[in-house]
Amino acid sequence: MITVQLHDKTFELFIPQEEIEKRIDVLSQMIVNDLGDTKPVFISVLNGAFMFTSEIVKRFPYNCEVDFLKISSYVGTTSSGNVNLTTNSIKASLANRNIIILEDIIDTGLTIKSLLNALSKYNPEKIYIATLLFKPEVYKFKNEIDINYIGFNISNEFVVGYGLDYDGLGRNLLDIYKLNQI
Ligand code: IMP
Repeated sequence: MITVQLHDKTFELFIPQEEIEKRIDVLSQMIVNDLGDTKPVFISVLNGAFMFTSEIVKRFPYNCEVDFLKISSYVGTTSSGNVNLTTNSIKASLANRNIIILEDIIDTGLTIKSLLNALSKYNPEKIYIATLLFKPEVYKFKNEIDINYIGFNISNEFVVGYGLDYDGLGRNLLDIYKLNQI
């Protein structure tokens, strides 16, 4: 079994880089087909979405803007329930534009909910949501918020790598690892 040690915890290989990239090829193609040449604004949710953002944007062949928002709700391996959010860093003009939020992972959905509330105030044309990972078992907004592009549905496990961290470590791993429960 391939494992990595981060702080006090051991994580085992879960989704290899090759599989992640193949899936991102598919998601990107869906985004290109849906958005086409509408000059969309990609909004990347930092820190975790930096790698996913880079891969999606590299595959988008038309004019677009890319902006970044820094948000955090996790403390250690659990959601704190409080989302720190400010949209002040966004420089693109969002009115009447197609926005694509790029998330590393959607867990309870509290982050995406606050983000949608905050971004709706700018009167965009439409807001799309793309996430590399999704935990359907813990998602709280099933009938309320549709997620347009999902890389992988995973069970309720704590994962790291490909941008995701455990207390600051693991973001540079090219594969995704899950917490070893043993
Ligand atoms: P939500 O608000 O509960 O949907 O949580 C979303 C945020 O929590 C993500 O953008 C991540 O930063 C963090 N998060 C949720 N699950 C994990 C995980 O398994 N590993 C690392 N970070 C996670």
